[in-house]
Amino acid sequence: MKITVINGTEKKGITYRLKEIFLEPWRGDAEITEFYLPRDCPNFCVGCTTCFMKDQNLCKDAQYVQRIEKALLEADLLVFTSPAYVFHATGAMKAMLDHLGYRWMPHRPAKEMFGKRAVIITQCLGAGGKSAAKDIKDSLSWWGVASIKVVSLKLMSDINWDKIPEKKRTEMSNRILKVSRKMRSVDYSRPARTPFMTKCKFYAVRMLQTNLGKEDPEYTDYKYWKENGWTGNVRPWK
Ligand SMILES: Cc1cc2nc3c(=O)[nH]c(=O)nc-3n(C[C@H](O)[C@H](O)[C@H](O)COP(=O)(O)O)c2cc1C
Repeated sequence: MKITVINGTEKKGITYRLKEIFLEPWRGDAEITEFYLPRDCPNFCVGCTTCFMKDQNLCKDAQYVQRIEKALLEADLLVFTSPAYVFHATGAMKAMLDHLGYRWMPHRPAKEMFGKRAVIITQCLGAGGKSAAKDIKDSLSWWGVASIKVVSLKLMSDINWDKIPEKKRTEMSNRILKVSRKMRSVDYSRPARTPFMTKCKFYAVRMLQTNLGKEDPEYTDYKYWKENGWTGNVRPWK
């Protein structure tokens, strides 16, 4: 059982505490790989479009991005965390997600994603946790991730863990632990069921790629879809 965690902040604050509580029941029997942003993906996408048009390995930041992508593809469970910063995920998280834009379904989605499960943990002081989670969920669902669970918490007190009233800390811990235990009861030898909406997106893009391929059979994304057999009868889900 492999878990890959993408931490949207390097700070060992509240987001970190909540993530540690989530992982606690898995310690000892899961192989956990963690990335901390921006440390592990420190640069912005500059919009050169080399990943889209040619090859993701030619990106100036491929050394960072490909390490993260490999861990994401190998994991049974993906965990993404972020505090809300001005109603959104952290800039560091957004910068990392931009780098994986070429994995969105209209481009070259990875077939491994279609049976995968993910948990997104966000928290905020008063408002913005849900929109922060949506920033991450948008990418995951367009990557094709089959099951995405969101836990979004509101502090409504202090942004320092030790100053949060005990009752509130227990309440937040219990909510995280409940999701963690639920995810532990899953049989990871079976892929998650691909949602109807993901299939709709796939078929819409399949039509688009088929048309693009008629205009230019050498187009990078079309060639990828064709090589995978997706413009024919093959599907990325089981
Ligand atoms: C730059 C910045 C922007 C923030 N924006 C919001 C916000 O829009 N809404 C909110 O409720 N909390 C906001 N917060 C509070 C954070 O969401 C979070 O609760 C706090 O930073 C504690 O989390 P941490 O210890 O993991 O950093 C912001 C914090 C920072 C540093």
